[in-house]
Amino acid sequence: MHIEHELTPDDDTATIFIEGLDKDLRIFHVTDSHMAEGDDRDPDALEHVTSVGGRFAERTPGGVPAQEVFRKTLQRGKEQDLDAAAFTGDMIHFPSYRGIEVIAEGMAELAVPTIYTLGNHDWHFPHLPWNNETRAAHYPRFHSITDGNPTCQAIEVGGVRLIAIDNSNYQVTADQVTFLRQQLGKGQPSLLFIHIPICIESLVPAVMEMWKAPIMMAADEGWSEQTREQWRVPGDEVATRECHELLVSGDTANLAGIFCGHVHFPHADAYRDGRYQYVTTPGFAGGSRIIELKGR
Ligand SMILES: [Fe+2]
Repeated sequence: MHIEHELTPDDDTATIFIEGLDKDLRIFHVTDSHMAEGDDRDPDALEHVTSVGGRFAERTPGGVPAQEVFRKTLQRGKEQDLDAAAFTGDMIHFPSYRGIEVIAEGMAELAVPTIYTLGNHDWHFPHLPWNNETRAAHYPRFHSITDGNPTCQAIEVGGVRLIAIDNSNYQVTADQVTFLRQQLGKGQPSLLFIHIPICIESLVPAVMEMWKAPIMMAADEGWSEQTREQWRVPGDEVATRECHELLVSGDTANLAGIFCGHVHFPHADAYRDGRYQYVTTPGFAGGSRIIELKGR
């Protein structure tokens, strides 16, 4: 399958030519809005609505709440004649019922098939430990926006498979790798949506500069004992290594690209010959990306 990326200096588009595509497609990618929403259904979260909300409002264009930027982003998306949308996590800063409703309302407003994968903040209230128990405890809240399965989903749009895998703890499981293999095995052109970027050499310096740790998936180098402890990334599980290898050198030629967020700045580069990973500018900073898929 011939796939070609047309790189531009533009951080808010990605143009990919895909041989044999029946119709051109436009997919809206939004990530990391970090909205702080809550109400009395989550009384313990109310203090975070104020503190986190204030912290992110300082980082938005015009110093407005992140929710306001999200509404403008949705508006921009609606003007784009979209075929689908993908949200790649940390859309909310903690999993309040109200926050998840805001996402669901946003999906409904776009009125196109939408896929959602979680980030490391989605499932974590700041007053709870950041671990797999907390993640598992809050997963059910996301069933309504993940077709009942926050770990992995796939939808088909115009002959293209959009695949989402939750790698928000820096790891994937053997079941997720099996799911990815099955989806790619269908042979259709595909896009993968994950929260945490896979490690690419050209992404490392900027990540290290901003975060002082290589906060990417399958990053071998750059961790210290202290940063591994701080980010709770003790080391990679076998399935995570297997997933990385599958993506960078395995039988995944029909995977046209990877789209992600997490590190809060835009980046685009190849993760294997002719296949690119795009990190999109965070939603709170006004970022989004239109993925244009064009037949040839
Ligand atoms: Fe994140």
